Amino acid sequence: MRSTMRRWTVSNSVSVCWSVCVVYLLVVSVTCGSACPVQRALRVDNSSSASTSTSGRHVRSYVHLQGDVRQRKLFSFQKFFLRIGKDGRVNGTKRKDDPYSILEITSVDVGIVAVRGLSSNLYLAISKRGELYGARVYGINCRLKERIEENGYNTYASAEWKNKKRQMFVGLSAHGRPLRGRKTRRKNTATHFLPIMV
Ligand SMILES: *[C@@H]1O[C@H](CO)[C@@H](O)[C@H](O)[C@H]1NC(C)=O
Ligand SMILES: *[C@@H]1O[C@H](CO)[C@@H](O)[C@H](O)[C@H]1NC(C)=O
Repeated sequence: MRSTMRRWTVSNSVSVCWSVCVVYLLVVSVTCGSACPVQRALRVDNSSSASTSTSGRHVRSYVHLQGDVRQRKLFSFQKFFLRIGKDGRVNGTKRKDDPYSILEITSVDVGIVAVRGLSSNLYLAISKRGELYGARVYGINCRLKERIEENGYNTYASAEWKNKKRQMFVGLSAHGRPLRGRKTRRKNTATHFLPIMV
């Protein structure tokens, strides 16, 4: 009697385990979509033409930047795409086909990203004085603190510089012009961007 009971319990718990597994796999495959780590890794490998044919996830043309790489556009709350021009000027464009608005966002640290313009090959940077510009070489001005705000938009603040203890953010005016970091606030929608898949 007791052994039957035990056998039932064992087989029952095995099947419960299976169901949990199946449900988990279903959930993962449904919710993961294009954000799946494996797919991301594949996309990175495919897009990093600069790396060799033996390239893996960790072999890239710029070894100092590690971690996850995402190709995105940053779409402002005021409906401009942030662009980094060849001349290092940063502003907004309404054009959907502007190649200078295609950006590569790389995690360089926990909560810190680097944003590089693919066409200009310049990094989005905030200087000590709060100027927004495209930097040729990756440096401390290019380290941006990425945070999701309450409205679902992201903000990008200098991870290095502050103005009177206030953070300085990447921002575009209502006319698509770059904002001085000193004039930016987290609550101001001029600093709010949606990363859009390219
Ligand atoms: C991946 O790379 C191959 C060869 O370079 C190319 O033909 C293909 O279109 C790429 N796929 C994607 C999804 O970019
Ligand atoms: C942004 O800069 C580009 C190139 O200098 C210019 O063509 C464009 O009109 C500017 N956009 C805005 C909204 O000022």
